[in-house]
Amino acid sequence: MCGIVGYLGNKQACDILIDALKRLEYRGYDSAGIAVWDNGAIATARQEGKVDDLRKAVSAGGFKGTLGLAHTRWATHGMPSERNAHPHTAGDVTVVHNGIIENYIEIKERLRKEGHTFLSDTDTEVIPHLVMRHVEEGRDFADAARAALRELKGSYAVGIIREKERTLVAAKKESPLIVGIGDEEYFIASDVPAILDRTKRFIFLEDNDVVILRDGLPVITDMEGNPVERAVSTITWTGAMAEKGGYKHFMLKEIFEQPRAIADTLIGRVTEEDGQLEFEDLSLPDLAKARKIWMVACGTSYHACMIGKHMIEANLRIPVETDIASEFRYRNPILEKGDVLVLISQSGETADTIAAMKEGKKRGIYTLGVCNVVGSTLARECDGVVFTHAGPEIGVASTKAFTTQISVLYMLMLYIGGKLHKMDRTRIKENIREMRTIPHKVQAILNGSGSIEEAARSFLTVKDFLYLGRGINYPAVQEGALKLKEISYIHAEAYAAGEMKHGPIALIDENLPVVVVSPNDSTYRKTCANIEEVLARRGKVLLFTDHESHEMASRVESVFTFPSTTYELQPVLSVIPLQLLAYHIANLLGTDVDQPRNLAKSVTVE
Ligand code: G6P
Repeated sequence: MCGIVGYLGNKQACDILIDALKRLEYRGYDSAGIAVWDNGAIATARQEGKVDDLRKAVSAGGFKGTLGLAHTRWATHGMPSERNAHPHTAGDVTVVHNGIIENYIEIKERLRKEGHTFLSDTDTEVIPHLVMRHVEEGRDFADAARAALRELKGSYAVGIIREKERTLVAAKKESPLIVGIGDEEYFIASDVPAILDRTKRFIFLEDNDVVILRDGLPVITDMEGNPVERAVSTITWTGAMAEKGGYKHFMLKEIFEQPRAIADTLIGRVTEEDGQLEFEDLSLPDLAKARKIWMVACGTSYHACMIGKHMIEANLRIPVETDIASEFRYRNPILEKGDVLVLISQSGETADTIAAMKEGKKRGIYTLGVCNVVGSTLARECDGVVFTHAGPEIGVASTKAFTTQISVLYMLMLYIGGKLHKMDRTRIKENIREMRTIPHKVQAILNGSGSIEEAARSFLTVKDFLYLGRGINYPAVQEGALKLKEISYIHAEAYAAGEMKHGPIALIDENLPVVVVSPNDSTYRKTCANIEEVLARRGKVLLFTDHESHEMASRVESVFTFPSTTYELQPVLSVIPLQLLAYHIANLLGTDVDQPRNLAKSVTVE
């Protein structure tokens, strides 16, 4: 999704802004632009394509100045093109924007009648026109910006500058925006990693905050101009954590970081000796009264919800209903007092997940966020939050966030099991002990993953894949198929193995690779039968199992083994080789692994 950065300080803005944009590339975008202010004049450049192309375009000079804005655009209104790329200008006002202005058509019509001319197809372009109009009415810049923003319906994070003064006005409503505080310099950005190498001190703006940056201290107001106080937070992530560190892609680095990410997610929360679990910011209501737990999310995080359902229902016998966030609130779910709504999101900014959280709050039920980004909207606004300590995830295709989400859900299961006396201490201790072995087991899979890269070479001309799994590994194969289609653009469909004969079996022939996760658990025999059915139709089976002597091993195309663990933790291990298979196929095909086409890391529009 669109990325915004802004700078006001005593250094040259252009390089700082372009470097920061580079760090936002992971969000996904199709065009980029920059505006730099210098003594009453603003130079702008914008174009379709990559930030590196923009850097080349501005390197010719003419972009000197210590105040500026830059933007990466992910098209919503209007094709990717130079004319639709940001910044957009009207009169002396220049704007970058992330979000969607829902009433832009009526504003455009109204302004057109007043004589305004629009040069792009975007919703954004109405903003500089509105600000300019209010400036012309005689309002000061910040006041004019607030008046313009009050006219907008929809979501936005905006950065606004004008030629006549050395001031940057920024504001947010339902789209992320942070302010970075340096030494006599200020930054705005859509996300922390953009400026992590410049400062560790941040203000996380709330919805309807307007920040006015000029030389001197930042001023924050509400939309009416009343001052508001916002705390300054210090972030412990380092810039290096958001670098590739010798790996070809962020995604590969993040796959290999999983042992550390999972271990960090456990640290300080589990003590095996006494079977206790502690969470820093959790005040769960009386779960004994909970009729139901809801788990709601999007994309990969939704697959974690499905795994959470398996764990909690099987062990605690509390009903768990899962929902895709974009479906949840439109179907008028039957939420009742005492229910708990768990919202899972790596970024904490996914618009549909935030909307689901708001629906839960409106209905008066406890909302619990499982989130990776401190200071994100979800983390701030949920009643309770448990952080996954995965560190910054930059690759668009989520990997370490997923396995740390499952780890958190597992710990929550043990925590609730203990509280409600549904699991005794001995069992909790055994489960904690097993959980502690998981980082080592993931490491063992990574250490032996060369054969997956080899196998990937056989599938470069394939058009479709089928993924099969059962029980708690059904969401794991859904995640594996999602990874493959996201980054290699190969169509991949995941099915519960038992459901294969109700449709996808018609697709099977010698050209269809079928990925099967078949652990040595209660579903083992049933999945063996499904493999037989695939082989009988000459399908090529790639078997992923923890069974040392799987009875189908000699008859399938290839076998990859992963260590055994308890049923609940199997997906943390089974998904790792599936992530690697997707990565290696995409890498060999030469796709843009970290920023796959059309996808965004942080989907801040509904
Ligand atoms: C986008 C990303 C996915 C991610 C999903 C949910 O689609 O490309 O990788 O799983 O959003 O994101 P969240 O930050 O809410 O987990």
